[in-house]
Amino acid sequence: MRTVWMSVVLVAGVSVAGPSPEAAAKVELKKVQAKKGDVVRGKDRYQAACASCHLENGAGQPDGSFPQLAGQHPIVILKQLTDIRSGARENAVMLPATTALSEQDMADIAAYLKILPIPRDNGRGEGDLLDDGLVLYKRDCASCHGRSGEGNAKDSTPVLAGQHYKYLLRQATEIRDGKRKNANAKMMEVVKSYTDTQLVAVTDFMSRLVMPELPKAGKK
Ligand code: HEC
Ligand code: HEC
Repeated sequence: MRTVWMSVVLVAGVSVAGPSPEAAAKVELKKVQAKKGDVVRGKDRYQAACASCHLENGAGQPDGSFPQLAGQHPIVILKQLTDIRSGARENAVMLPATTALSEQDMADIAAYLKILPIPRDNGRGEGDLLDDGLVLYKRDCASCHGRSGEGNAKDSTPVLAGQHYKYLLRQATEIRDGKRKNANAKMMEVVKSYTDTQLVAVTDFMSRLVMPELPKAGKK
């Protein structure tokens, strides 16, 4: 009994001395990105492992507890999954859902989420600071997050159009306060001087961004 316990401690000790969560996540992300995702398999895996919280259509919850995922850039899904799994982004609630995923599962799920339409009935804020929000968004956020909140797959900037206001506000606040460890360093520079009111204004504005719909096949 005693020896078993000792060896468990030893193994735990070895893993602590291993690569940092950030380094481990980077290595895993490279491998996952190299896989080609399969939408049909992805639908199955998503419904089994993710839909209980993020819903079948990927819409999450307007109360901000679970983010909207439909239409997200695959690279963003993969980065967040590998960050959460390694601990580079803390998410105790979701962690158990990620531990059994293979690299192929992750690629499949990301490919499936990409084709889901972004819902337009996401949670929004009070709407009383939108003029200020527009000014701040154009000045400080649009260069990375895009005119319509479309983000940028090249540098894994998330699609934020259709994201719930309460989720955006919570994340922006955690990024400003240094609590979300996997944040973008340049963005942290931008938001570090933001007041709570400015964060409310800009994230309420963001929650109202709508991406242009893709033309339907066969129609002009
Ligand atoms: C038990 C509930 C639960 C399950 C199951 C779950 N998640 Fe999550 N997920 C969460 C929560 C809670 C958050 C937000 C955490 C926070 O506020 O920082 C989240 C955040 C995310 C994010 C980050 C989104 C962003 O834009 O920042 C992604 C991506 C994600 N989940 C994908 C998945 C995928 C893919 C699965 C299935 C393999 C899954 N989740 C399963 C609860 C869950
Ligand atoms: C230099 C580019 C850049 C600028 C400027 C920037 N962001 Fe970001 N932002 C990012 C990237 C990249 C991420 C994803 C970080 C990650 O990998 O977890 C992000 C993530 C976020 C998130 C979390 C989204 C999610 O799905 O979890 C919010 C909210 C956000 N940004 C709001 C803002 C706001 C508000 C501004 C302007 C005040 C802003 N950002 C300016 C690059 C930027």
